[in-house]
Amino acid sequence: MSPRPFIVAIDGPAGAGKSTVSKLLARRLGFALVDTGAIYRCVALMASREGIAFDDDAKLGELLGRVRIHFQVVGEENHVFLGTEDVSGEIRTPAISMGASQVSGRPVVRAGLLALQRRLALETEAGAILEGRDIGTVVFPDADAKFFLAADPEVRARRRFEELFQKGVDSSLEAVLTDQTQRDAADSERTVAPLKAADDAVRVDSSSMPLSDVVRTLEQEIERRRAARGG
Ligand code: DC
Repeated sequence: MSPRPFIVAIDGPAGAGKSTVSKLLARRLGFALVDTGAIYRCVALMASREGIAFDDDAKLGELLGRVRIHFQVVGEENHVFLGTEDVSGEIRTPAISMGASQVSGRPVVRAGLLALQRRLALETEAGAILEGRDIGTVVFPDADAKFFLAADPEVRARRRFEELFQKGVDSSLEAVLTDQTQRDAADSERTVAPLKAADDAVRVDSSSMPLSDVVRTLEQEIERRRAARGG
């Protein structure tokens, strides 16, 4: 039997640099990238399109059975597909961000998405990087390498604002910060799988560190652990 793919868990709050760092690392290592936030966003998008309230557990539970998600690298970007539809842009609007935060607080949604997240990672060949909030604590408590990325709230909001600006999404730094504060509170205070560093996660604060240095730090740690595991 071939060994389980090498699993890397990268958790942390919005704007800590998880997406950029995960994307660069996945490319350098030849690993698949599973953006678990995008999965919660797809559930929120489906609910919103179908007029389902973000706290309607019965309807959300039924919807989960119909979620068909896959990731595909298009050019430099990791795109998200719902069925055959590329929803990468649509899941990033402020309304869907808030919706994702809300549906992710519903235990029925978290439980219903566990198997999907694990399958997307385990069906890869060399390894997978999973980025999210509870990867090292709940989805893969036995991940081969675990990281918790942090950064000051103002730094995170500025990064998110610049990212949205580059994508042509109309917003303001103030609005992004307000939205982020609300999501941070909801994600950290919920009772199921709150945003929390695993005890054995390596913590990296990227507030005053260029993201290229963050990538190097994580890559060195991953290579050390791969060597210890024997590949
Ligand atoms: O990382 P993101 O901003 O795309 O995540 C969208 C929302 O999904 C965020 O508010 C928290 C939630 N989420 C979660 O609860 N657990 C995860 N593993 C990933 C995201």
